[in-house]
Amino acid sequence: MSTEGLPMTVPAEGLPARVRIHEVGARDGLQNEKTAVPTAVKAEFIRRLAGAGLTTIEATSFVHPNWVPQLADAEELFPQVVGLDAALPVLVPNQRGLDRALALGAEYVAVFASATESFAKANLNRTLEESLAVFEPVVRRAKDEGVRVRGYVSMCFGDPWEGPVPLAQVARVCGALRDMGCDELSLGDTIGVATPGQVRALLALLNERGVPTDAIGVHFHDTYGQALANTLAALQHGVTTVDASAGGLGGCPYAKSATGNLATEDLVWMLHGLGIETGVDLGRLTATSVWMAEQLGRPSPSRTVRALSHKDQ
Ligand code: HMG
Ligand code: MG
Repeated sequence: MSTEGLPMTVPAEGLPARVRIHEVGARDGLQNEKTAVPTAVKAEFIRRLAGAGLTTIEATSFVHPNWVPQLADAEELFPQVVGLDAALPVLVPNQRGLDRALALGAEYVAVFASATESFAKANLNRTLEESLAVFEPVVRRAKDEGVRVRGYVSMCFGDPWEGPVPLAQVARVCGALRDMGCDELSLGDTIGVATPGQVRALLALLNERGVPTDAIGVHFHDTYGQALANTLAALQHGVTTVDASAGGLGGCPYAKSATGNLATEDLVWMLHGLGIETGVDLGRLTATSVWMAEQLGRPSPSRTVRALSHKDQ
């Protein structure tokens, strides 16, 4: 390890030159916190993330406040961060969510589908088909308004109720979201069970079904410690959008066994070590996660945050 807190850079063949990190800490991370985080702290977190060079920062969710009380302050928060030098996607589960997002000037929204029936029911209170029928007019209206749309697909690699998820089922949901007009997909390993062969197989199948790699992002949770290995497999396939959560915050309140996302610092350490540009200042990002851990009253689960913040001790 370098003594300056940076990895040694040794590029490897067959990898992209640049990766766009889709930062989800303020949404996926904070939606799972047991204690309420004050709106001002969330806004400061997002400002610091932008200051660290992150250019896509998922800010909050316009979901039902009873379903995710942690993000019930979306109306207060969003105006405090809009105008930052970063794209600020927000989650919308239905027309009501889109109304709320558009009223505040959101320019980038995400619908969130499931590859399985069980999670569609647990997360959206709908069957899979019903949830897709809800999304269709949401995506159409967002596109008509000139808003960028991301389509998440959860449980792409395994489901806590149903076990292994057939790839064809994942591809069908991905195809439906693309047909609606989603600009990009994000393949969610919600419970962190995927291994790299599965990632390769799904990406290959999606390409075969006409989804181009540049419309695909990957969203790994690190429950089984596989998130970085899976990310590398995706990069080798040509994926250039990777979701990550500062400090490794995260989970999903409606999926048992969903723990933190891939930590942004762990991702940046690997990407910079491979000579892949991200635009992120790792020192500033780590300082942000250390600050956020203080606000939350517990240490960051990110290995890189821990290593860098203890390196002088
Ligand atoms: P429902 O109870 O079926 O809602 O919940 P409904 O459509 O029957 O409506 C009931 C009432 O809620 C109505 O009010 C609606 O207006 C209101 P009433 O007429 O009774 O006064 N309502 C809303 N209010 C505010 N904002 C809204 C909204 N929608 C309806 N958007 C619903 C259905 C989708 C709303 C609910 O299930 C929900 O909010 N779910 C969100 C769950 C969630 O946020 N999960 C976490 C995000 S997904 C995730 O983390 C995975 C991801 O990270 C990828 C991965 O890791 O895999 C993305
Ligand atoms: Mg997630």
